[in-house]
Amino acid sequence: MTPMPPTAHEKILEVSDVSVTFGRVVAVDGVSLEIHRGEIVGLVGESGSGKSTLGRAILQIVRPARGSIRFGGTELVGIDPEALRRHRRDLQMIFQDPRGSLDPRMRVAAILAEPMVIHGTHDRAARRARVAEVLDIVGLRADVLDRFPHQLSGGQAQRVAIGRALVLDPVLLVADEPISSLDVSIQAQVINLLSDLRAELGIALLFIAHDLAVVRHIADRVAVMYLGGIVELADKRRLFEHPLHPYTRSLQSAVPVPDPKRERTRTRIILEGEIPTPDNPPPGCALSTRCPLRASLGGPDRCTAERPPLRQVHPGHAVACHFAEAADGPAPHR
Ligand SMILES: Nc1ncnc2c1ncn2[C@@H]1O[C@H](COP(=O)(O)OP(=O)(O)OP(=O)(O)O)[C@@H](O)[C@H]1O
Ligand code: SF4
Ligand SMILES: [Mg+2]
Repeated sequence: MTPMPPTAHEKILEVSDVSVTFGRVVAVDGVSLEIHRGEIVGLVGESGSGKSTLGRAILQIVRPARGSIRFGGTELVGIDPEALRRHRRDLQMIFQDPRGSLDPRMRVAAILAEPMVIHGTHDRAARRARVAEVLDIVGLRADVLDRFPHQLSGGQAQRVAIGRALVLDPVLLVADEPISSLDVSIQAQVINLLSDLRAELGIALLFIAHDLAVVRHIADRVAVMYLGGIVELADKRRLFEHPLHPYTRSLQSAVPVPDPKRERTRTRIILEGEIPTPDNPPPGCALSTRCPLRASLGGPDRCTAERPPLRQVHPGHAVACHFAEAADGPAPHR
């Protein structure tokens, strides 16, 4: 395969001010995010911060209470089911538990062919040819075709799930913690596979992960979520070397560094207290109850009075903190 040059700056996804609620729980609270063709965006945050809900909202598996999601120029919020079905070909999702996301009663051959059957895109011969192609792309041998999901290893099952998502040539893949349930020994292989999909097929990726270390090598840009909101968004390099939001600085300080000497002297920034629940978020800034920067500034009232908007502090670097400039300086470690 010849590498496809990514068409620079072509926005394929524009999420604007999206909120998703479940009763009193505001799982996603006014999120805006863009993804360009062939771009890999990492979405990082601790459990319950709303990452999966945002991913599901992009696919319209959950319907936002507010906001706009434009995909390839089409508004997806409120779209009628038939039009959504057509767009769903270009927009696919893979999940943390690959076996749970594959139909246990279907053999791999049928699982991979199913999207083509549902969308009526290929005749029988073309389906077989496409299944063989996809199998090759995801690095599986033809002998898996007759197996059921429970007869696959975790890594094989995730490759099948990725293959199923690829069959109809998507433009964007939302990968929700695709390696968390896999053995450490095969996590890197799946990361490399996803990275190759971008390089060889030009597929854009929203890669959801718990911690920064996972997205370190694969992402072009990284968005950090805390309690339903994006608190920092920047080019990966900038985010790792120059994190400005106190929450990002804490996450970044938890990433081990390869140099043993620097690893020994690494200082960790530990946030005190528990993450508040999204049915009762603190007023003003979501981090105000545990923010080390706020504490070091003597607890300014502005943090609890006013919600900090995500604002650009440097080209391509946005932070949701009233006092981001006060945190400026080198990363807790590099
Ligand atoms: N279907 C649902 N019904 C009610 N509440 C939900 C539902 N889905 C998610 N939530 C709540 O919304 C919030 C965000 O959940 P979400 O699963 O999006 O977080 P996450 O960042 O993906 O977490 P994790 O890292 O654990 O996967 C949580 O408080 C969760 O309990
Ligand atoms: S606005 Fe205040 S509480 Fe929020 S991150 Fe900045 S300093 Fe901390
Ligand atoms: Mg999740």
